[in-house]
Amino acid sequence: MDISTNSNKNPAGNDAKLHNGMEYDIKDIALAPLGKKRIEWAERDMPVLRDVRAQFEKELPFKDMNFSACLHVTAETANLMRTLKAGGANVLLVASNPLSTQDDVAASLVVDYGIPVYAIRAEDKEKFFSHIEAAIAHNPVITMDDGADLITTIHRDHPEKATQIMGSMEETTTGVIRLRAMAKDGALKIPVVAVNDAKTKNLFDNRYGTGQSTLDGIIRATDALIAGKVVVVGGYGWCGRGFAMRARGMGARTIVTEVDSIKALEAVMDGFEVMPMKEAAKIGDIFCTLTGDINVIDKTHFPAMKDGAILCNSGHFDVEINLKALEAMAEKVTKDVRKNVDEYLVGGKRLYVIGEGRLVNLAAAEGHPASVMDMSFATQALASSWVVANKATLKAGVYEIDPEIENRVANLKLASMGIYVDTLTEEQKHYLSSWEEGT
Ligand code: ADE
Repeated sequence: MDISTNSNKNPAGNDAKLHNGMEYDIKDIALAPLGKKRIEWAERDMPVLRDVRAQFEKELPFKDMNFSACLHVTAETANLMRTLKAGGANVLLVASNPLSTQDDVAASLVVDYGIPVYAIRAEDKEKFFSHIEAAIAHNPVITMDDGADLITTIHRDHPEKATQIMGSMEETTTGVIRLRAMAKDGALKIPVVAVNDAKTKNLFDNRYGTGQSTLDGIIRATDALIAGKVVVVGGYGWCGRGFAMRARGMGARTIVTEVDSIKALEAVMDGFEVMPMKEAAKIGDIFCTLTGDINVIDKTHFPAMKDGAILCNSGHFDVEINLKALEAMAEKVTKDVRKNVDEYLVGGKRLYVIGEGRLVNLAAAEGHPASVMDMSFATQALASSWVVANKATLKAGVYEIDPEIENRVANLKLASMGIYVDTLTEEQKHYLSSWEEGT
């Protein structure tokens, strides 16, 4: 392994380093061998993405195109980056969250796969945004976001760069909400594919991925026994549903809080207790927010909580628990009472916050398992080639995923599991397309 590093400044003014003439900014390049093992381990569980990679290797749909991706820097994302590179793209990766970067994976991407990465776990806001500037300085024609930070920074600070972008992919609910708000205001200047809204993404990644990885994060951070605990789930979207289902499966008495009456009714009929947060605050042992909104757990809730309550968030941004208010009202704050856990003393009671209120599954665990990211990232990769193939007709706006992509991903995933479905007979097709036959 040839590891040659010098200090340098990249076009965005970063403290970039050089490896074989390629600029990057990561924690420690010597972590590469560990990261490589992790990337290869994840790859075993990503058969659909492997299939897409084989196709891209043959067809080179992205030959010589610059891609900038602002995603969680994990082993699964590394496999997406390899797939895009196999399709001919010059990919650059930056973090979409300051606490989700796997530093060893970042190192391996640089050393073993020749992919420039700008991401350091626990980077501060200034560094985070200087890395986003590096992604912009790469002059991408395709961008990828998990939370829309790259695309909103381009629109706000570098609007001239928007004109060269064929399209962007958005991976998460929060990002799609921001982009739809931009489109509504007439501010969105490029076509964006709402990858998050694909069935092959949100029905699986948001539900089963978040359900499992959120519990994983809570357990790794606290070693809490879930059985017998009162778990409070803020929000009953796909992520909340998945988490509530898994918390109950491990023996928790599970309470849901909601603002949407239909979702609340669904939670009730799924067998969960539903109540306002101000009631749940008094009885919860473990709280997790998964809403996409701010201050779901707010200043009025903290004093009502039990001694020892555990608080975390699995929504995209660290705004769902009002940590500023908690900090202001706390008599004492003790950082790192355990790895990834801070203790706040409020009215003599100890409240424990995991991962500074950032995505608990990525801050305290490894994010969703590769097997589910397989579907999300195969959808993401195929959406990119769809943008390239349709660039002449795409206009500024938010696009749904092409159903053909969803069907291909679902079929490949089933086939990889050795599961096959029936096909409609001609008679059944005719019946479904006719209206004459009834009672
Ligand atoms: N989002 C949630 N889990 C993830 C993972 N493992 N990799 C990338 N993005 C994610």
